[in-house]
Amino acid sequence: MKVILLGAAAGGGLPQWNCGCVNCDAARAGRLAPLTQSSLAVSTDGAAWALINASPDIGAQLRAAPALHPTGPRRSPIRAVLLTNGDIDHVGGLLTLREKQPFDLRMTGEIAAVLAANPIFGALDPALVPRLPVALDAPFELLPGLTATLFAAPGKVPLYLEGEGVETALEGEQTVGVSLVSGASRVVILPGCARVTPALEARIEGADLLFFDGTLWEDDEMIRLGLGTKTGARMGHMSMSGPEGSIAALAGLSVGTRVFAHINNSNPALRPDGPERAALEAAGWILGQDGMEFET
Ligand code: MLT
Ligand code: MN
Ligand code: ZN
Repeated sequence: MKVILLGAAAGGGLPQWNCGCVNCDAARAGRLAPLTQSSLAVSTDGAAWALINASPDIGAQLRAAPALHPTGPRRSPIRAVLLTNGDIDHVGGLLTLREKQPFDLRMTGEIAAVLAANPIFGALDPALVPRLPVALDAPFELLPGLTATLFAAPGKVPLYLEGEGVETALEGEQTVGVSLVSGASRVVILPGCARVTPALEARIEGADLLFFDGTLWEDDEMIRLGLGTKTGARMGHMSMSGPEGSIAALAGLSVGTRVFAHINNSNPALRPDGPERAALEAAGWILGQDGMEFET
C-alpha cells in the first residue's frame, strides 16, 4: 500500500490565517514548514487513488502530488473519497472536487446525513458522485484490492453542530477511524480521537502504519497561549503528552510506523529543535509533514 500524507495540520493549517502565535509567525517567516489541513491519499497500484478526507486545501495538495495529477483531459486518478467525520477540515474540500468528475463518496450514515443537510454539497452531482453510506465494522472495497473498515472512535459531532452540553467522547458514527488492508499490509488512520479505549487498542495492535490524532501536545495549550478557551478534551482530541496522552496510551502496542497527523498550529512539537519533538521521536513517533510518502 502507498500512502501520501497530503496535509498534516489540523483545522486552520499552519499558518492559520488569523493567528500570530509563535508557530504561525515562524511558518510565515519561513522558519517552520507550512502545513495544510488534514488529508491523506492511498493506493495499491499507484494508479487508482482514494482520499481519506477532503480538506479545504485539497486543490494545493493535489497540485503538490504528481501521482494525483490528471492522466488526461478531465481524468483524475482519484476513484474514491472516504470521510472520517463531518468537520470542515475534512469535508470542505469536497466543494473543490466538483467539476463532473466521477468518484465514490463514502462515509457513515450519520456523516452522510450531515452532508445531506447542507445543500451546497449538491454541487457534487449525485449521478457522478454516489454517496455510499458505510456501516461501522463492515469491510468494503474502497479501491480494487483495498479493503476498508470504519470503526467508532471516541469524539464528538462537528463544531458547527454542537448544541448545549456536547458529549465529547461519544462512540458512534460521528467520528471514526479507518482500517485499510491490502494483502498482508494494514494501515490505521485516526485523525481525531478523544481517548484510547480497549476496543481501539485492538484495532491498532499490529498495524504496519498508524496515523494518529496529533492535535495538541498538552490539553490546555491553547488556553495558555491565549489562542482560545477550549481544552483538547473539550474539542474531542486527546493530547500527545502526559500520563493520559497518546504517546503513553499507545506505547505498549506493536505498530510498525507511528505518525502524528492532524497537528494543530499551537503544538510545540512542530518546532524541530524543541524538547517536545525530541521526546516524541524518542518514543518512536514521526511528526507528520505535508507530502510524506509511505509504503507498506
Ligand atoms: C477539530 O478537529 O476539532 C475540528 O476540525 C475543529 C474545527 O472545525 O475547526
Ligand atoms: Mn479537525
Ligand atoms: Zn497559530
